[in-house]
Amino acid sequence: MRTLTLTSILVPLLSFVFYRNFLRMPSLSTVRASNAAFFPAYTPVAIFVGGTSGIGQGMAEAFARHTKGNAHIVLVGRNRAAAESIISTFPKPTTPGVTHEFVECDITLMKNVHRVANELRSRIPKINFLVLSPGVLTMNGRNETEEGIDRKLAVHYYGRWRFIKDLLPAVQEAHKAGEDAKVMTVLAAGHGGKIDLNDLGLKKTFSIANAASTAPTYSDIMVNDLAARYPGISFIHSYPGLVATNILKTSDTRTIRIMNSIFSPLMRPFSYSVETSGEHQLYALLKAGPGAVRATDNGDDIGLRKNYYGDEEAMRRLWEHTEEATGV
Ligand SMILES: *[C@@H]1O[C@H](CO)[C@@H](O)[C@H](O)[C@H]1NC(C)=O
Repeated sequence: MRTLTLTSILVPLLSFVFYRNFLRMPSLSTVRASNAAFFPAYTPVAIFVGGTSGIGQGMAEAFARHTKGNAHIVLVGRNRAAAESIISTFPKPTTPGVTHEFVECDITLMKNVHRVANELRSRIPKINFLVLSPGVLTMNGRNETEEGIDRKLAVHYYGRWRFIKDLLPAVQEAHKAGEDAKVMTVLAAGHGGKIDLNDLGLKKTFSIANAASTAPTYSDIMVNDLAARYPGISFIHSYPGLVATNILKTSDTRTIRIMNSIFSPLMRPFSYSVETSGEHQLYALLKAGPGAVRATDNGDDIGLRKNYYGDEEAMRRLWEHTEEATGV
């Protein structure tokens, strides 16, 4: 009896770990080889908002590796020291005029996003890849900035939306030049829930669960809407799966930090490392065609049918609401 119970637990568990690490398609080596085959005929410009830690860092590092440093790479975030240490590991560019740089921005405030986006626009006429992945994990309740937006939603949705909107003219320039023109938000594609169109921004019905399912749904709708408005450009919302980042360790919620120290070692076999996730997410970015894409952690597009909580009305109202909320 005991053996049976143990077996019935261990077998599925081990096969899951095995599947996760060895049988998943495409394999890490396939993904890496595919990324390494990225040889654009132009010098790419890539901006990683949130590229100073976690998945964004993994993607920026993978991008720098595969382009052999010959790409203009901008890391946008709050931590200059982290950015400088990441950039110091990038291969040194051999193409003249190419730089790797850090730009400071606290994305919780839309006025910061406007300022930084304008500054970037004024000197970077063309952007090939715009990747947004800043994250926060908190179990605290609604916490509004002086602009009236909840901080967590600001980082996961509103600030990203504003960056995309403000930088899109430069992405369009890349498309016009016949180059890659792609925007990717890394959050939780296909893992949203129903949203209340009469309470966009969750001013009345904020809860941890609501906030957790709302940002992914808003992002699903966002990529669909942007793709309709800006044909020819790729708009990807991706689900990176479980990644061993320091997002739990640095949470402002004590319970999350404690749970992290207990569960992190146990979850490690089921998690991607930052490096592996960076390769997989870069693969999803590079392989995406024009239009809206909801990418799984494998880089596959799940399309817009499954677990999609948007429609025409939601698209229109969310756009208006977001434009107003981030207009400042
Ligand atoms: C709200 O966020 C600020 C800035 O991150 C933080 O200092 C403060 O403790 C938070 N307040 C609550 C109630 O969580």
